[in-house]
Amino acid sequence: MEVMTEVMAKAINGKEVALRVRGELKAECERLKDEKALTPGLAVVLVGEDHASRVYVRNKTRACEEVGISSFQHILSGEVKQEKLLELVSGLNARDDVHGILVQLPLPGHINAGSVLEAISPEKDVDGFHPFNVGRLVSGSPLFEPCTPRGIMELLDSAAIEISGKDAVVVGRSNIVGKPMAFMLLHRHATVTICHSRTTDLPAKVNSADIVVAAVGRAEFIKGEWIREGAVVVDVGMNRTPEGRLVGDVEFEGASKRASYITTVPGGVGPMTVAMLLKNTVEAAKRSCA
Ligand code: GUN
Repeated sequence: MEVMTEVMAKAINGKEVALRVRGELKAECERLKDEKALTPGLAVVLVGEDHASRVYVRNKTRACEEVGISSFQHILSGEVKQEKLLELVSGLNARDDVHGILVQLPLPGHINAGSVLEAISPEKDVDGFHPFNVGRLVSGSPLFEPCTPRGIMELLDSAAIEISGKDAVVVGRSNIVGKPMAFMLLHRHATVTICHSRTTDLPAKVNSADIVVAAVGRAEFIKGEWIREGAVVVDVGMNRTPEGRLVGDVEFEGASKRASYITTVPGGVGPMTVAMLLKNTVEAAKRSCA
């Protein structure tokens, strides 16, 4: 008879790591102000009424103020014409006090998101979504790395998790998380599998992984029993159950009994995304006067 020893995974505390990063950035902003009379600036553009987007934008703006980054919010009606939005971006590209530009996604259906992202100057593209920055990331010489996967790499490093030679499974293939995540793990010498909605036998693929990154956007889609014993589990999901509970993409209860390390929802990846946005903005400001 197989005897399972129940070991609780160590939680990777994203809130704590994010606080440390924000403290470092605050000190850096004070230094830039004193030595170079430079205050990093981030413009955040929100189009429409999407509730989750409003909350994200508010959090990003507050976090900026806390570390000493100037934030410029531009909230536009959901009916705004694409040309108006492109004009706004072009104006922000030209401003010396704006070092980073973020257009919150998703955009309303009548707007071509690709054209808007391409209009952002690559040197101010702190999200790393411009095709120039995507190309730089894929070819292994990134300028800006997308915030969520960058935050995940920092979390793995903060827990001293070995990446080189490990089998990593990324579930989800979005441009925001899944695809950049896969390349960042690959550059650190993991063997990477990207899984998605048409992947066959997902449980077996997840079970083969030393590192699982779940970014599908479906509540508790990844079952605890799929996780290999000792695996590292990173949960990018933020989902509300019909009962109003906030849960990730992974069934935490079961997964935490098999994993060696696991991130929580909330308090895992989320705070790191914001911290990396601030970090990218400070780096953009420093490059602007280098
Ligand atoms: N929507 C969800 N995540 C993100 C993000 O990281 N950046 C932007 N701009 N929009 C998002």
